[in-house]
Amino acid sequence: MLRGSKVGLRARHEGDIPVLQAELHDDVANHSRADGRPWRPITPGSKESPFVVDDKEQRHAWFSVVELDGGTLVGAAELWNIDTHNRSAHIGLGLLPSSRGKGYGTDVVAVLCHYGFAVRGLHRLQIETLSDNAAMLRAAERNGFVREGVLRSAAWVMGEFLDEVLLGLLARDWKPDAKG
Ligand SMILES: CC(C)(COP(=O)(O)OP(=O)(O)OC[C@H]1O[C@@H](n2cnc3c(N)ncnc32)[C@H](O)[C@@H]1OP(=O)(O)O)[C@@H](O)C(=O)NCCC(=O)NCCS
Repeated sequence: MLRGSKVGLRARHEGDIPVLQAELHDDVANHSRADGRPWRPITPGSKESPFVVDDKEQRHAWFSVVELDGGTLVGAAELWNIDTHNRSAHIGLGLLPSSRGKGYGTDVVAVLCHYGFAVRGLHRLQIETLSDNAAMLRAAERNGFVREGVLRSAAWVMGEFLDEVLLGLLARDWKPDAKG
């Protein structure tokens, strides 16, 4: 397990999947804002669930997020599209509604930076989020990510195009203990 100050990132367990699916995927509004793919209903237990992990897939590292104190499941996080030539990857995360606003998201980003830069030797990490996702923007910026651009009308969300913000952090600028 990878440990932050409040949360740990561990492998996905079978029992996590129905909880993540019910609390994250089945919330159509949340899914539509947090995932670039269109929402569609997924049958409980289906191998098509976005939370089912393929351990043979080398381009993505999927984690479940748990509280360090007690081990309760609080969300999902991933390093996706790991590119070993350009040594870059994207960060994604989603917390269960009752676990938001407690500093966990900021901690998850810190742990994913440790995983990407220290464990995997990557050079660049990237986050894309909606321009009105204040909590995600702040969690990224507190970990040293900088806004590199706005992708205008890049996301179709529940009937309208919204802007996305692209944030990046380079290994040389990463300060493991900084929460500025
Ligand atoms: C986005 C998300 C991961 C952020 O994690 P979080 O644990 O809620 O965020 P934190 O508690 O670490 O807060 C980060 C900062 O944002 C602020 N913040 C939290 N919720 C906020 C809100 N609703 N509006 C404005 N600011 C907010 C916090 O005060 C904190 O700022 P500070 O460090 O100056 O105090 C989480 O809210 C979530 O899972 N949302 C739904 C899914 C999603 O949007 N995923 C990201 C897709 S790119």
